Amino acid sequence: MSKNIFKGSVVLNPVPVVLVTSRNKEHKNNVFTVAWTGTVCTKPPMLSIAIRPERLSYEFIKETMEFTVNLPTRKLTKETDYCGVRSGRQVDKIKEMNFTLKEGKEVNSPYIEECPVNIECKVKSIIPLGTHDLFLAEVVCSHIDQRLMDENEKIHFEWANLIAYSHGEYFPIPKTPIGKFGYSVAKTNSTPKAENKSIKKPKKSLKNKSEKKKRKKVK
Ligand SMILES: Cc1cc2nc3c(=O)[nH]c(=O)nc-3n(C[C@H](O)[C@H](O)[C@H](O)COP(=O)(O)O)c2cc1C
Repeated sequence: MSKNIFKGSVVLNPVPVVLVTSRNKEHKNNVFTVAWTGTVCTKPPMLSIAIRPERLSYEFIKETMEFTVNLPTRKLTKETDYCGVRSGRQVDKIKEMNFTLKEGKEVNSPYIEECPVNIECKVKSIIPLGTHDLFLAEVVCSHIDQRLMDENEKIHFEWANLIAYSHGEYFPIPKTPIGKFGYSVAKTNSTPKAENKSIKKPKKSLKNKSEKKKRKKVK
């Protein structure tokens, strides 16, 4: 494999793309698109978002130290893009995008009803990095569309038609998994059915043939 050297840019792709809602002290709401986000801790549950100080959302979130992460679906791709190319300083994006806002449970920032997953966050620290400041926040409560839960209360994010972002483009997330946590070392074959089809298992007869040959040689 011959590779080109690429410097000066983070080439980590794909990444999630989310809609972040916030409310300032004057009760003004805003939403903006964030792709530089990630899970950073399990206990306490924490995530990060990186924000440029010139964003209106930066002002709102720094003021209240609260925000909500909303996961957009494929149907909301255009809305997701729009919220990332227009500022709340110029337009009321929530009104323009016809988003329904619901009151948060643990935070003052509202969440977007149309998004199937909403994650309420409280900022714990802000680290200036350069172009962006990193906001590290504790997840204090999440809202999950009941239709994503099976009878054992397992959440099926794959049923939600979520989207990912890669090098300037939006991509749908396929519904069929190609593996699951730990399947590579599992004793029983837990490879999802779809992937099973492409795995060529050694034919019994061949194995027998080579074994027969070996036995002949020994004789
Ligand atoms: C796909 C996409 C991802 C983005 N990711 C980020 C991000 O991670 N951090 C950031 O500060 N801005 C990001 N932006 C830009 C902001 O969303 C954009 O500047 C927005 O207009 C800011 O809105 P506001 O001024 O209302 O807060 C992204 C834009 C797009 C389209």
